[in-house]
Amino acid sequence: MGTEFSNEVIEKAYARWAPFYDFVFGALFSRARRAAAEAAERVGGRVLEVGVGTGISFPDYSRSTRLVGVDLSEPMLRKAQEKIAELGLNNVEGLSVMDAEHMAFPDNSFDVIVAQLVVTTVPNPEGTLDEFMRVLKPGGEIVLVSRVGADKGPRRVIEQWLTPLTRFLGWRLEFPWTRYERWVEGRDAVRVIERRSMPPFGHFSLIRFGKVKTSAAPDQRLEAHAAG
Ligand SMILES: C[S@@+](CC[C@H](N)C(=O)[O-])C[C@H]1O[C@@H](n2cnc3c(N)ncnc32)[C@H](O)[C@@H]1O
Repeated sequence: MGTEFSNEVIEKAYARWAPFYDFVFGALFSRARRAAAEAAERVGGRVLEVGVGTGISFPDYSRSTRLVGVDLSEPMLRKAQEKIAELGLNNVEGLSVMDAEHMAFPDNSFDVIVAQLVVTTVPNPEGTLDEFMRVLKPGGEIVLVSRVGADKGPRRVIEQWLTPLTRFLGWRLEFPWTRYERWVEGRDAVRVIERRSMPPFGHFSLIRFGKVKTSAAPDQRLEAHAAG
């Protein structure tokens, strides 16, 4: 078993998980999922949930929140489609098979991007976060639920050692906070709004990034100039 992450490996992993994903991961992450939905709804507007999987988070949102879901795994999305039909979720505007790193949406399409347990599964986490920023409107938020691995010490060594196994299961254990910090440092438009520890085991976090509104729109600049 190698340590290289690829979409092919991940697709196979989640095709295996799809039939019993909710049973295994439902209650375990319910508090974190609720916190993510609450954070998204505080921003309001149109929400894109990336790596939406079986749609396990859908019931956490209010029926008035407009949701779009994408995922790499067709078997996981089929479960999400069943959930929409069973629960009559007409606030879900659409589901599509899409790679999180190369989405088909125009720039600035969504008010919030939610990605729960996804950043540590993709081959290129930083490139994927950049793609979230591209489709996010200025003033919007990225809301993540994610495992944050140790920066150093024995826990980091164990996490690295277990990577070949967890890659087969479909995620990374090792993903230190410094990786997020480095990503933020290299990007003027991103700021960290919040990092809050979440169960299980306190190894997970709710992480919120904001997309800074940059210079004023051209018409606002003209108005300011005229007034001054
Ligand atoms: C651990 S599951 C999380 C599912 C759900 N968000 C939750 O809260 O339980 C990871 C999900 O991310 C999806 N995924 C992994 N890599 C992806 C990629 N490159 N693009 C889109 N989805 C991806 C998987 O197919 C899977 O449904």
